[in-house]
Amino acid sequence: MRIILIGYPCSGKGTQAKFISKKYNIPKISTGDLLRSIILTQKNKESLDIKKKIEQGKLISDSIIISIIKKRLAEKDCLNGYILDGFPRTINQAKIIDQNKIKIDYVIELLISKKKILKRMLGRQIHMKSGRIYHKVYNPPLHKNKDDITGEQLITRKDDTKKVIIKRLNEYNLFKKKIIQYYKQKNKLNQLKFFKINGKKKVFIIQKKIMKILNQ
Ligand code: AP5
Repeated sequence: MRIILIGYPCSGKGTQAKFISKKYNIPKISTGDLLRSIILTQKNKESLDIKKKIEQGKLISDSIIISIIKKRLAEKDCLNGYILDGFPRTINQAKIIDQNKIKIDYVIELLISKKKILKRMLGRQIHMKSGRIYHKVYNPPLHKNKDDITGEQLITRKDDTKKVIIKRLNEYNLFKKKIIQYYKQKNKLNQLKFFKINGKKKVFIIQKKIMKILNQ
Protein backbone atom coordinates (compact mmCIF):
# COMPACT_ATOMS: atom_id res chain seq x y z
CA MET A 1 0.00 0.00 0.00
CA ARG A 2 1.55 3.30 -1.12
CA ILE A 3 -0.11 6.42 0.15
CA ILE A 4 0.35 10.18 -0.13
CA LEU A 5 -1.19 12.44 2.53
CA ILE A 6 -1.68 16.02 1.37
CA GLY A 7 -2.93 19.01 3.34
CA TYR A 8 -2.21 22.41 4.80
CA PRO A 9 0.34 22.75 7.60
CA CYS A 10 -1.24 21.40 10.81
CA SER A 11 -4.05 19.65 8.93
CA GLY A 12 -3.08 16.48 10.81
CA LYS A 13 -0.95 14.68 8.20
CA GLY A 14 1.73 13.61 10.66
CA THR A 15 -0.81 12.46 13.24
CA GLN A 16 -2.73 10.33 10.72
CA ALA A 17 0.44 9.09 9.01
CA LYS A 18 1.65 7.73 12.35
CA PHE A 19 -1.66 5.87 12.79
CA ILE A 20 -1.61 4.42 9.25
CA SER A 21 2.02 3.37 9.67
CA LYS A 22 1.21 1.38 12.81
CA LYS A 23 -2.08 -0.06 11.54
CA TYR A 24 -0.79 -1.22 8.14
CA ASN A 25 2.82 -1.81 9.11
CA ILE A 26 4.34 0.51 6.52
CA PRO A 27 6.88 3.27 7.20
CA LYS A 28 5.81 6.87 7.62
CA ILE A 29 8.08 9.01 5.52
CA SER A 30 7.83 12.68 6.37
CA THR A 31 10.05 15.05 4.42
CA GLY A 32 9.70 17.51 7.32
CA ASP A 33 11.05 14.88 9.78
CA LEU A 34 13.86 13.94 7.40
CA LEU A 35 14.87 17.60 7.08
CA ARG A 36 14.71 18.16 10.84
CA SER A 37 16.88 15.08 11.32
CA ILE A 38 19.47 16.52 8.90
CA ILE A 39 19.46 19.77 10.92
CA LEU A 40 19.95 17.80 14.14
CA THR A 41 22.69 15.47 12.96
CA GLN A 42 24.65 17.35 10.30
CA LYS A 43 26.49 20.59 10.83
CA ASN A 44 27.37 21.88 7.38
CA LYS A 45 26.31 24.62 4.98
CA GLU A 46 23.45 22.56 3.52
CA SER A 47 21.93 21.79 6.91
CA LEU A 48 22.27 25.44 7.99
CA ASP A 49 20.50 26.55 4.79
CA ILE A 50 17.72 24.03 5.38
CA LYS A 51 17.30 25.27 8.97
CA LYS A 52 17.13 28.88 7.85
CA LYS A 53 14.54 28.17 5.16
CA ILE A 54 12.32 26.05 7.44
CA GLU A 55 12.39 28.74 10.12
CA GLN A 56 11.33 31.29 7.49
CA GLY A 57 8.51 29.01 6.29
CA LYS A 58 10.02 28.62 2.82
CA LEU A 59 10.07 25.43 0.77
CA ILE A 60 13.35 23.56 0.41
CA SER A 61 14.62 23.14 -3.17
CA ASP A 62 13.24 20.25 -5.21
CA SER A 63 16.74 18.89 -5.82
CA ILE A 64 17.43 18.43 -2.07
CA ILE A 65 13.97 16.98 -1.42
CA ILE A 66 14.16 14.55 -4.35
CA SER A 67 17.59 13.38 -3.28
CA ILE A 68 16.56 12.64 0.33
CA ILE A 69 13.26 11.00 -0.62
CA LYS A 70 14.85 8.73 -3.25
CA LYS A 71 17.44 7.61 -0.73
CA ARG A 72 14.77 6.90 1.89
CA LEU A 73 12.47 5.03 -0.51
CA ALA A 74 15.36 2.77 -1.54
CA GLU A 75 15.53 1.37 2.00
CA LYS A 76 14.33 -2.18 2.60
CA ASP A 77 11.37 -1.29 4.83
CA CYS A 78 9.68 0.45 1.87
CA LEU A 79 9.34 -2.74 -0.15
CA ASN A 80 5.76 -3.39 1.04
CA GLY A 81 4.64 0.21 0.84
CA TYR A 82 4.93 3.55 2.57
CA ILE A 83 3.05 6.61 3.57
CA LEU A 84 4.40 9.91 2.29
CA ASP A 85 3.66 12.83 4.62
CA GLY A 86 4.41 16.29 3.23
CA PHE A 87 5.70 15.05 -0.12
CA PRO A 88 5.16 15.94 -2.94
CA ARG A 89 4.72 19.65 -2.30
CA THR A 90 5.44 21.00 -5.78
CA ILE A 91 4.20 19.83 -9.16
CA ASN A 92 7.80 19.10 -10.10
CA GLN A 93 8.14 16.76 -7.10
CA ALA A 94 4.89 15.01 -8.12
CA LYS A 95 6.14 14.50 -11.67
CA ILE A 96 9.50 13.20 -10.51
CA ILE A 97 7.70 10.50 -8.49
CA ASP A 98 6.20 9.23 -11.73
CA GLN A 99 9.39 9.60 -13.75
CA ASN A 100 11.16 7.43 -11.19
CA LYS A 101 8.36 4.83 -11.37
CA ILE A 102 7.58 5.33 -7.68
CA LYS A 103 4.15 3.75 -7.41
CA ILE A 104 1.29 5.47 -5.56
CA ASP A 105 -2.05 3.76 -4.83
CA TYR A 106 -3.88 6.37 -2.77
CA VAL A 107 -3.75 10.15 -2.41
CA ILE A 108 -5.71 11.47 0.57
CA GLU A 109 -6.24 15.19 1.07
CA LEU A 110 -7.04 16.45 4.58
CA LEU A 111 -9.22 19.58 4.45
CA ILE A 112 -9.06 22.17 7.22
CA SER A 113 -9.84 25.84 7.89
CA LYS A 114 -7.31 28.59 8.74
CA LYS A 115 -8.86 29.06 12.19
CA LYS A 116 -8.27 25.40 13.08
CA ILE A 117 -4.74 25.52 11.68
CA LEU A 118 -3.84 28.29 14.14
CA LYS A 119 -5.39 26.46 17.11
CA ARG A 120 -3.52 23.27 16.27
CA MET A 121 -0.23 24.97 15.57
CA LEU A 122 -0.19 27.04 18.73
CA GLY A 123 -0.50 23.97 21.00
CA ARG A 124 1.76 21.57 19.13
CA GLN A 125 4.81 20.02 20.77
CA ILE A 126 7.06 17.42 19.22
CA HIS A 127 9.69 14.92 20.26
CA MET A 128 12.50 15.94 17.94
CA LYS A 129 14.33 12.58 17.59
CA SER A 130 11.28 10.42 16.86
CA GLY A 131 8.93 12.98 15.31
CA ARG A 132 6.18 12.03 17.81
CA ILE A 133 3.51 14.72 17.79
CA TYR A 134 1.52 16.06 20.75
CA HIS A 135 -0.87 18.92 21.40
CA LYS A 136 -1.19 20.69 24.74
CA VAL A 137 -5.00 20.42 24.62
CA TYR A 138 -6.01 17.90 21.94
CA ASN A 139 -3.33 15.27 22.52
CA PRO A 140 -1.36 16.05 25.68
CA PRO A 141 1.61 13.95 26.76
CA LEU A 142 1.21 11.81 29.88
CA HIS A 143 3.62 14.11 31.74
CA LYS A 144 3.71 17.81 30.90
CA ASN A 145 6.35 18.68 28.26
CA LYS A 146 7.81 15.13 28.28
CA ASP A 147 7.78 12.49 25.55
CA ASP A 148 5.62 9.48 26.55
CA ILE A 149 8.19 6.90 25.45
CA THR A 150 11.58 8.37 26.34
CA GLY A 151 10.63 10.97 28.95
CA GLU A 152 12.77 13.45 27.01
CA GLN A 153 11.84 17.12 26.71
CA LEU A 154 9.27 18.07 24.06
CA ILE A 155 9.92 21.14 21.96
CA THR A 156 7.90 23.70 20.06
CA ARG A 157 8.95 23.89 16.41
CA LYS A 158 10.65 27.17 15.49
CA ASP A 159 8.37 27.43 12.45
CA ASP A 160 5.24 27.19 14.64
CA THR A 161 4.69 30.93 15.03
CA LYS A 162 1.86 33.07 13.68
CA LYS A 163 4.24 34.94 11.38
CA VAL A 164 5.85 31.83 9.87
CA ILE A 165 2.60 29.89 9.51
CA ILE A 166 1.29 32.60 7.16
CA LYS A 167 4.34 32.13 4.95
CA ARG A 168 3.92 28.31 5.12
CA LEU A 169 0.27 28.62 4.08
CA ASN A 170 1.21 30.87 1.17
CA GLU A 171 3.92 28.45 0.02
CA TYR A 172 1.41 25.59 0.17
CA ASN A 173 -1.14 27.59 -1.81
CA LEU A 174 1.35 28.20 -4.62
CA PHE A 175 1.15 24.55 -5.70
CA LYS A 176 -1.99 23.19 -4.04
CA LYS A 177 -4.36 23.55 -7.02
CA LYS A 178 -1.94 22.08 -9.55
CA ILE A 179 -1.09 19.08 -7.37
CA ILE A 180 -4.73 18.31 -6.60
CA GLN A 181 -5.63 18.63 -10.30
CA TYR A 182 -2.72 16.34 -11.17
CA TYR A 183 -3.95 13.61 -8.83
CA LYS A 184 -7.61 14.06 -9.75
CA GLN A 185 -6.62 13.46 -13.35
CA LYS A 186 -4.73 10.32 -12.36
CA ASN A 187 -7.80 9.20 -10.42
CA LYS A 188 -9.90 9.62 -13.58
CA LEU A 189 -7.42 7.53 -15.52
CA ASN A 190 -7.61 4.83 -12.80
CA GLN A 191 -3.91 5.21 -12.06
CA LEU A 192 -4.59 5.77 -8.36
CA LYS A 193 -7.45 6.61 -5.99
CA PHE A 194 -7.92 10.16 -4.76
CA PHE A 195 -10.01 11.02 -1.67
CA LYS A 196 -10.77 14.13 0.37
CA ILE A 197 -11.42 13.92 4.10
CA ASN A 198 -12.70 16.55 6.50
CA GLY A 199 -9.60 17.12 8.64
CA LYS A 200 -11.51 19.25 11.16
CA LYS A 201 -13.05 16.18 12.81
CA LYS A 202 -11.64 14.42 15.84
CA VAL A 203 -8.53 12.29 15.34
CA PHE A 204 -10.35 8.95 15.77
CA ILE A 205 -13.13 9.91 13.31
CA ILE A 206 -10.54 10.75 10.64
CA GLN A 207 -8.77 7.46 11.41
CA LYS A 208 -12.05 5.57 10.81
CA LYS A 209 -12.57 7.34 7.47
CA ILE A 210 -9.04 6.53 6.38
CA MET A 211 -9.49 2.88 7.34
CA LYS A 212 -12.73 2.72 5.35
CA ILE A 213 -10.86 3.97 2.29
CA LEU A 214 -7.86 1.70 2.70
CA ASN A 215 -9.90 -1.41 3.58
CA GLN A 216 -12.11 -1.15 0.47
P1 AP5 B 1 6.43 19.60 7.64
O1 AP5 B 1 7.06 19.16 8.88
O2 AP5 B 1 5.99 18.62 6.63
O3 AP5 B 1 5.28 20.60 8.03
P2 AP5 B 1 3.81 20.85 7.39
O4 AP5 B 1 3.52 20.23 6.10
O5 AP5 B 1 3.69 22.32 7.45
O6 AP5 B 1 2.90 20.07 8.28
P3 AP5 B 1 2.92 20.04 9.80
O7 AP5 B 1 3.97 19.07 10.26
O8 AP5 B 1 3.02 21.46 10.33
O9 AP5 B 1 1.46 19.58 10.17
P4 AP5 B 1 0.70 18.20 10.00
O10 AP5 B 1 -0.28 18.33 8.90
O11 AP5 B 1 1.65 17.05 9.95
O12 AP5 B 1 -0.11 18.21 11.36
P5 AP5 B 1 0.15 17.41 12.73
O13 AP5 B 1 -0.28 16.00 12.61
O14 AP5 B 1 1.51 17.71 13.26
O15 AP5 B 1 7.42 20.61 6.87
C1 AP5 B 1 8.12 21.62 7.56
C2 AP5 B 1 8.94 22.42 6.58
O16 AP5 B 1 9.89 21.56 5.92
C3 AP5 B 1 8.16 23.09 5.44
O17 AP5 B 1 7.63 24.34 5.82
C4 AP5 B 1 9.28 23.23 4.39
O18 AP5 B 1 10.14 24.29 4.72
C5 AP5 B 1 10.05 21.93 4.55
N1 AP5 B 1 9.51 20.84 3.69
C6 AP5 B 1 8.94 19.68 4.12
N2 AP5 B 1 8.60 18.91 3.09
C7 AP5 B 1 8.96 19.59 1.96
C8 AP5 B 1 8.84 19.31 0.57
N3 AP5 B 1 8.28 18.16 0.12
N4 AP5 B 1 9.31 20.24 -0.30
C9 AP5 B 1 9.88 21.39 0.11
N5 AP5 B 1 10.02 21.71 1.42
C10 AP5 B 1 9.55 20.82 2.35
O19 AP5 B 1 -0.95 18.15 13.65
C11 AP5 B 1 -0.79 19.47 14.08
C12 AP5 B 1 -1.24 19.59 15.54
O20 AP5 B 1 -2.63 19.35 15.63
C13 AP5 B 1 -0.57 18.58 16.49
O21 AP5 B 1 -0.34 19.20 17.72
C14 AP5 B 1 -1.61 17.45 16.63
O22 AP5 B 1 -1.52 16.81 17.90
C15 AP5 B 1 -2.92 18.21 16.46
N6 AP5 B 1 -3.95 17.44 15.73
C16 AP5 B 1 -3.77 16.65 14.63
N7 AP5 B 1 -4.95 16.16 14.20
C17 AP5 B 1 -5.91 16.67 15.06
C18 AP5 B 1 -7.33 16.54 15.13
N8 AP5 B 1 -8.02 15.82 14.22
N9 AP5 B 1 -7.98 17.19 16.11
C19 AP5 B 1 -7.29 17.96 17.02
N10 AP5 B 1 -5.93 18.10 17.01
C20 AP5 B 1 -5.25 17.48 16.02
